[in-house]
Amino acid sequence: MKTADSDWGRELEERLRSDGTDRFYRMHFYETVDSTNEECKRHYAEGVPEGFLAVAEQQTAGRGRSGRTWVSPGGEAAYFSFLLRPDFAPSHAPSLTLVMGLSVAQAVREVCGLPAGIKWPNDIVISHRKICGILTEALADGDRLDYVIIGTGINVNNASFDPGIAEVATSLRIENGGCPVSRAAVVASALAHFYENDRIYRRTADLSGLSNAYDDLLVSRGREVRIEDPRAPYTAVSLGIDKGGGLLVRRADGGIRCVTAGEVSVRGLYGYI
Ligand code: BTN
Repeated sequence: MKTADSDWGRELEERLRSDGTDRFYRMHFYETVDSTNEECKRHYAEGVPEGFLAVAEQQTAGRGRSGRTWVSPGGEAAYFSFLLRPDFAPSHAPSLTLVMGLSVAQAVREVCGLPAGIKWPNDIVISHRKICGILTEALADGDRLDYVIIGTGINVNNASFDPGIAEVATSLRIENGGCPVSRAAVVASALAHFYENDRIYRRTADLSGLSNAYDDLLVSRGREVRIEDPRAPYTAVSLGIDKGGGLLVRRADGGIRCVTAGEVSVRGLYGYI
């Protein structure tokens, strides 16, 4: 497959080495794999340590959240997953998705200079359109975590999107005025940021050390949002996240509420934020 950065696996390996993050991430590059998350699970079953990293040119059975398919053709996007074995309680694992989202937004800003923001809880957006999806899967045995696998797909060099998703999706290339972006540079930077952010997360097993950085990139911050609470929807001002990853909002009566992603969805009043 000939693309502008067809040798990006090798380039990524070199970047991990020069960043020093290859001490943690042990990369395996696949031209074709069913799903990089599944590849991590297979390697977990073989006993690989934390840091196993699967990167793919294309996926034949890429998976998204809520059982959806993540269409994963080769040549444009970046697909990668890595395995963690944190020694905290399973309830602390879901927030790692927010840690990854923050890391991707920081990488896009650093590598491309594009104004990537976070749509709570973990969609990374530019111009209100999504550039990245994150699927976190964990296996727990009672109160012990066996693994956490974080899988990320970044729309790096996609030239266009099918009607239907073009409204809500974009790529770094499109936002970069049509100029291709190095997949290796974006992924290496996201992994380096995750490495640092994860260290901060593990000190307290919560987001208290990262909430300022996260809130700085939160697109809804200080804006009105609609909380789709099934019991009684309401409008409130988004303030930022709490240490558990919930969104703090101020209601019209001045009361502060913390909404959690599993319970309600949050919509921007003026577009996709
Ligand atoms: C979402 O629905 O927003 C999450 C999409 C996650 C896609 C990535 S691509 C790499 C990894 N492998 C998968 O099968 N899914 C994740």
